[in-house]
Amino acid sequence: MGDPYYITTAISYPNGRPHIGHAYEAIAADVIARFQRQAGRDVRFQTGTDEHGLKMVQAAREQGRDVRDLAAEMSGHFRGMCDALGISYDRFIRTTDADHYRASEAIWRAMEDSGDLYLSRYEGWYSVRDEAFYDEKELTGEGDDRLSPQGTPVTWTAEETWFFRLSKYQQPLLDLYRANPDFIRPEARRNEIERFVEGGLSDLSVSRTTFDWGVPVPGSPGHVMYVWVDALTNYLTGAGYPDALTPHWPADLHLIGKDIVRFHAVYWPAFLLSAGIALPKTVFGHGFVLHRGEKMSKSVGNVVDPLELAGHFGVDSLRYFLLREVSFGQDGSYSAEAIVTRVNAELANAFGNLSQRTLSFIAKNLDGALPDIGRTEPADGELIEEVVVACAALKTAFDDLALSQGVEAWLRGVVACNQYIDAQAPWALRKTDPARMHAVLRTLVRAIRMLAIAILPVVPDGAGRILDTLGVATRDHAAIDDDGWYDRAASDGFRITTPTPAFPRLDLPAVVEEGA
Ligand code: MSP
Repeated sequence: MGDPYYITTAISYPNGRPHIGHAYEAIAADVIARFQRQAGRDVRFQTGTDEHGLKMVQAAREQGRDVRDLAAEMSGHFRGMCDALGISYDRFIRTTDADHYRASEAIWRAMEDSGDLYLSRYEGWYSVRDEAFYDEKELTGEGDDRLSPQGTPVTWTAEETWFFRLSKYQQPLLDLYRANPDFIRPEARRNEIERFVEGGLSDLSVSRTTFDWGVPVPGSPGHVMYVWVDALTNYLTGAGYPDALTPHWPADLHLIGKDIVRFHAVYWPAFLLSAGIALPKTVFGHGFVLHRGEKMSKSVGNVVDPLELAGHFGVDSLRYFLLREVSFGQDGSYSAEAIVTRVNAELANAFGNLSQRTLSFIAKNLDGALPDIGRTEPADGELIEEVVVACAALKTAFDDLALSQGVEAWLRGVVACNQYIDAQAPWALRKTDPARMHAVLRTLVRAIRMLAIAILPVVPDGAGRILDTLGVATRDHAAIDDDGWYDRAASDGFRITTPTPAFPRLDLPAVVEEGA
């Protein structure tokens, strides 16, 4: 087993069904998890649902339902979405899980033992939508129209609560950001957080008494933990806390959206410092996926079920589109047309066609036998070199979480293959120069195998099927450069059977055209 690698997504509020933003985060995390597994890391990947808090209580009340039932049903939809999108999580955590209660109680006690918790009275602004407390100076608007920095309504809240001495951690946090530039990524979000912390930190209210849907505060009847205390602790629950932490802690990457960076980059490390627990290595705040450039909202009626999109376009297509279209860290936009255009151009026409034409030609004309070495020319080695460089560039970019650039680099390898086909015209060589045809097809098979391994984390189904057609069992990164693979497969007498297209062309379905 390689070095441990622990990646987490945010855990979603199951107050409704998942939308494309949730799908995006799960897919991006899954691509990274699969990529790290391919690189030989011992990956642990956790996602799940964040079930406590006032937001859930209110959602249940509005629907006239029991909050437990609502949480259980909606959590099931989130899990179902992950399963349908091929999300390779190791654990789908629910904050209502028994071991999570234990972990939350333990971190509470640890913070209490550090002298960082005290009882007092909270009077201030609260956004139920964000489950967040805001300072007056952060709000915009007047009177009942006051809005949080996220544009959500706030209400005045006054109650006796437990406080966490966040103010004490101002300097330690600033030191942390300065000593570890990768703690908050991308850089723009780090700067934003640094400015926020430099502006001074008030102590944080960390319990609630006006409702009971949460983890009870140990030894303090009537108080439940502020939902973010238990929510953030899910990452530790997944690493065995409060029993001995597994080698996966500290987490390598908390992948979250830009709206919740403050919780992960300010509150969370402060809680951990207080509890004496090692800090995660990186918090990455990705951008938002917008629908035709607009925020999705129920009132605008542009909230699309990700499973509907996956049903129309296919899981691989949706995964590929989102990763390729959205520069990782920035906002991005989707529409049915954009999905169809990009997937057709890059997946179906460029890579799909390349492999389909090559492999079915071999199946048909060579009886599936892997082509001989034939008569080689310098162009062959040059193509292999270009493809090796493209796959290496994908790896470097993915290692740095530059996901879209990684796919773009990979595409350069695909384009090089198609140019090579145009120049070498292998199909025409069958009658005129079979020795040359063999060399060209052999080069293409080698290139296709490398490209399929490299893109496997993004499009596991289609790339996996191409590799199945080629009989390629070893699919880790190190295997890309394995020059001996081809000769071994050929001498084993492996035969290619006519494949079905791994990346079919998409049509714009009328129903999605209107809705999406
Ligand atoms: N429950 C909290 C997170 C707790 S983590 C300890 C929460 N839940 S959420 O359901 O509102 O959001 C879950 C994740 O989805 C967050 O990372 C959020 O940023 C992300 N997204 C929500 N809408 C999104 C888009 N439109 N686009 C991309 N990601 C978005 O916050």
